[in-house]
Amino acid sequence: CRPGVLCLSTRILTTQVHFRSFPTKNNRRMRQINNEIESILRGLIGKRMQAMQGESTNDDLLGLLLESNKTDMNENGQSIPGMSIEEVIEECKLFYFAGMETTSILLTWTMVVLSMHPEWQDRAREEVLGLFGKHKLDYEGLNRLKTVTMILYEVLRLYPPASAFTRQTYKEIEIGGVTYPPGVIFEMSVLHIHHDKDIWGDDVHQFRPDRFAEGISKASKEPGAFFPFGWGPRICIGQNFALLEAKMALCMILRRFEFELAPSYTHAPHTVMMLRPMHGAQIKLQATSS
Ligand code: HEM
Repeated sequence: CRPGVLCLSTRILTTQVHFRSFPTKNNRRMRQINNEIESILRGLIGKRMQAMQGESTNDDLLGLLLESNKTDMNENGQSIPGMSIEEVIEECKLFYFAGMETTSILLTWTMVVLSMHPEWQDRAREEVLGLFGKHKLDYEGLNRLKTVTMILYEVLRLYPPASAFTRQTYKEIEIGGVTYPPGVIFEMSVLHIHHDKDIWGDDVHQFRPDRFAEGISKASKEPGAFFPFGWGPRICIGQNFALLEAKMALCMILRRFEFELAPSYTHAPHTVMMLRPMHGAQIKLQATSS
């Protein structure tokens, strides 16, 4: 936490209540869904383990996780317990939920914002057509996309899918001149920092992708103020993958369609776990003439 930046809009939650332990209708439903997901994963893992028959297949994530499930030996010949099946299940859940919703929400906001700003939609399409034409998308080309990257950054700034994340103190700690005891939960509001006029300038609420023209560090007055993927040791492990996936999807959409907001669209960013359009994103697509 950098005093003056992160702590500015930090909300402190001093109580931690485990709502899920109360037997309410919602909690029972949540538990039921969790059990269903775990049993699907147990089935998948069982099948994979049978197929592996002792041999490892570490060319995908599940294979790698199961490889870590084996007991290893350290240099002194002592055995180190690997990941338990329960831990492998938790990792699978984390990767699925952390990876799916976030990236699809980023793409949703991107479609909304490019519908509101057709000039940027045109610029992005021109770039995609100029780089790939009708050819298959490739990794090299995707890494050369400048306008599309600036657009995605600006959407992540204005509408960070993970609008806040939390940290808990494990010992007494002083931050910004205030001493906190262990067990205090801090909520880091990415949204507030991304919308702070002092950090981004008077046009903070405007969609201006070119603020990222010279990279992330030059986009704001305070370097480090752009953190849609978190920060520090627990920074999003999937950030490069997410951006690559989003670029690929956006290129495919831009090549095939021109789009605009449907009259029924109402702009209402709303947080339920993630920052999403409250009433959905109704968008009209039209096949491009080329
Ligand atoms: C636009 C897309 C994404 C956004 C905005 C995003 C955002 C974040 C943020 C803010 C965190 C840190 C949470 C914290 O510090 O408490 C995080 C962690 C994580 N993300 Fe992402 N994420 C995205 C895509 C993905 C994808 C595609 C994957 C996997 C394929 C992924 C996997 C993870 C995992 C496993 C963690 C936990 C890392 C750890 O605790 O060490 N994320 N993500």
